[in-house]
Amino acid sequence: MNSNLIARQAKNNIYLPFNGRIEEIIPLAPDVGLFRVRVESQLTYSPGQFFMVSVWGAGEVPISVASLPDEGGVLDLCIRKAGMVTTAIHSLQTGQSIGLRGPYGNGFPLEASKGRDIVVVAGGIGIAPLRPLIHWLIRNPDKAGQVTLLYGSRSPEDMVFRDEIEKWREGGINVVLTVDKGNEKWNGHIGLVTGLWHEVRTDFKKAAAYICGPEIMIKAAMRDLFFLGMPDNRIITTLEAHMKCGVGKCGHCYAGPKYICTDGPVFSYEEIKKHAIL
Ligand SMILES: Cc1cc2nc3c(=O)[nH]c(=O)nc-3n(C[C@H](O)[C@H](O)[C@H](O)COP(=O)(O)OP(=O)(O)OC[C@H]3O[C@@H](n4cnc5c(N)ncnc54)[C@H](O)[C@@H]3O)c2cc1C
Ligand code: FES
Repeated sequence: MNSNLIARQAKNNIYLPFNGRIEEIIPLAPDVGLFRVRVESQLTYSPGQFFMVSVWGAGEVPISVASLPDEGGVLDLCIRKAGMVTTAIHSLQTGQSIGLRGPYGNGFPLEASKGRDIVVVAGGIGIAPLRPLIHWLIRNPDKAGQVTLLYGSRSPEDMVFRDEIEKWREGGINVVLTVDKGNEKWNGHIGLVTGLWHEVRTDFKKAAAYICGPEIMIKAAMRDLFFLGMPDNRIITTLEAHMKCGVGKCGHCYAGPKYICTDGPVFSYEEIKKHAIL
């Protein structure tokens, strides 16, 4: 095959990854690292979107963007070692390459919450896709009212982005932290993140929420916010599913009548109820 034809076919191949160079790996918690990946500076993406991230010989997995696109041409990916591919990613060193396809998915509807108080609810590594949203809210204080972050993890050691949390507070976010099990240094709350609603100084009927975490936490948070009076269309969450293609072709992520990869991964409680997605 001649080289022009190969180049033309490659350009039209949606499954062909491009290269990202790992510039820095920051350990955040046991088995969780922040991979700072140098990408083309014109690459753009929004909070709530994801990339298919691949390692040669291991496979490909969906990972949320954990940064805004204009943070120095570096794409942050916060990755927990869960199985084969994520372990292969964790075995890479600074200077090595990973494959990237994307960005994919719809992202958070930032304009939907314009001018409203916002409750961000995060569980464990679910804070990763919410981090660029928090950065965006800090940078755009005119776009929202009071922002409260309720963040829960299993233990203080499992809490990621701990060093940044003070900056988020300085940026005007009301941060409330909780863990399932504390230690002698821990002076925050102990218990479930859904036990912290009393810490949110807002009228829930007029506010909006963004949620990410384990499925059981997402379900409990959505239900509580509904009972606190928040309208279903302003309770927004991002969902996980087993994915292969990431582009609506393979059917692996099918939930109700929706593809999590292309119709989501961000859905409102209204959509989740209507289409029986969860
Ligand atoms: C849209 C989206 C965004 C994501 N963002 C992140 C992120 O920012 N950081 C991060 O660490 N992880 C994220 N994940 C989860 C990540 O994709 C999985 O942990 C990864 O695919 C596991 O692959 P593996 O080969 O390492 O493990 P496997 O060997 O494939 O699996 C290990 C274990 O994890 C379970 N698992 C695998 N994939 C998923 C999945 N998609 N959902 C739920 N359970 C799964 C398996 O059933 C198994 O029990 C995201 C998933 C989706 C769908
Ligand atoms: S991952 Fe293939 S259709 Fe969604």
